[in-house]
Amino acid sequence: MDGEEQATEGLHFVGKKDQLIEEKRSFRTLEGRDILIIHQQGAFYALDSYCYHAGGALQNGDIEDIDGKTCIICPKHKYKICLANGESLYKATDPTQDPPAPRWYSKGVKQRTHMVTETNGDVYVKLSYNPGWVESDFYQGEKGKVERAKA
Ligand code: FES
Repeated sequence: MDGEEQATEGLHFVGKKDQLIEEKRSFRTLEGRDILIIHQQGAFYALDSYCYHAGGALQNGDIEDIDGKTCIICPKHKYKICLANGESLYKATDPTQDPPAPRWYSKGVKQRTHMVTETNGDVYVKLSYNPGWVESDFYQGEKGKVERAKA
């Protein structure tokens, strides 16, 4: 894709819609950042490709619906990451509830997600650098490691 990559006002052409749907999961390097583009149940998602926890390869993770959210399960330690916003979910039991019942909780946004748009069958990704530091930045080269040291 390197030769075909185009950047227009931060938009990177990442492929034709039909091609990306067929691939289901596509890997692109944009602005030096490794991005995973996923087509799931009619929607496109883009997120940092290495898990925020310890750099697991998210492209090999299963996708499940968890508490009404579409999540990828990291193959390394099974952390659950929402595709839409990078939130990490975990299940726990609140001992103050009677009877105690397990439910899903959020750790907050841990994985950086990016904006995907489609125009006339062409799909574009615009990288998001907001909010500031997100834990998955650590696995995006030297720049991420420097930013983490400042946080
Ligand atoms: Fe993803 Fe540990 S590296 S859960």
